[in-house]
Amino acid sequence: MSKTLMVTGASKGIGLETVRRFLQNDAEVTTIVLVARESEDYTQALAELEEINERGVTLAPYFADLADRGGVIRLCAEIVKAHGNVDILVNNAGYTKPVPLQQVDFADFERTIAVNLYAPFTFVQELLHHGNKFELIVNIASTAGINGRSGWLTYSASKAAVINMSEVMREELAIYGTRVVCISPGRTATALRRVLAPDEDPSTIMQPQDVAEVIEMLASPVGRFVDSANLVVRQ
Ligand SMILES: NC(=O)c1ccc[n+]([C@@H]2O[C@H](COP(=O)([O-])OP(=O)(O)OC[C@H]3O[C@@H](n4cnc5c(N)ncnc54)[C@H](OP(=O)(O)O)[C@@H]3O)[C@@H](O)[C@H]2O)c1
Repeated sequence: MSKTLMVTGASKGIGLETVRRFLQNDAEVTTIVLVARESEDYTQALAELEEINERGVTLAPYFADLADRGGVIRLCAEIVKAHGNVDILVNNAGYTKPVPLQQVDFADFERTIAVNLYAPFTFVQELLHHGNKFELIVNIASTAGINGRSGWLTYSASKAAVINMSEVMREELAIYGTRVVCISPGRTATALRRVLAPDEDPSTIMQPQDVAEVIEMLASPVGRFVDSANLVVRQ
């Protein structure tokens, strides 16, 4: 069995650790499609992944700003043409700019919804339109989507919508044999968390590797027994 995994937000944090784990541990995954914006971090991450790529997995990096829906639609066509079916999709990319309600800039609210909600929706819908058959879709929401947090209005709202959207996807796609799981991580030591909590000591909270391990478990044989629409992962 030869599978294609696609991870958005693969340049750092949870996304990068997810790619690393599948690359090293899942013998069935022979192609990994990575998506993020072009950056030095991403270039460095790709070089590091190639260094540990002992199985000769095809690492296919793409550069895209997920706030651009037209770009996401074009990207889906490119990916299908180059790699065929995407078996496992991890909708992980996320954006936040926390500010109090009075200071919310509407354009930034739109950007948050575009990256965190519309992009995962568009990847799923567009790939389905191309005839894709997903085995597993993992949408990364947040515990902030379960309980709104002061100062995080746009982020919390976007993640609440991801949790709800995942429930609908889970119900609608079950007839195709697709499993849809939403993961809501708690505090995880990444760049995004530093934006939300700049004064926190990252060594005291969950690490991105921990969340990646849970995602890997979902794709493993035992993962099919996880019957949960929203899996909370926290310390
Ligand atoms: N860290 C936490 O405490 C925590 C808790 C709950 C949920 N989460 C969720 O976990 C997911 C991963 O975040 P992380 O914590 O690992 O943060 P991170 O290290 O900052 O990674 C975020 C990823 O999203 C990508 N991204 C952001 N905006 C993008 C855009 N416009 N177009 C394309 N890619 C974009 C980034 O790529 P670029 O290189 O393009 O910036 C990066 O790869 C997010 O959905 C986040 O909301 C995190």
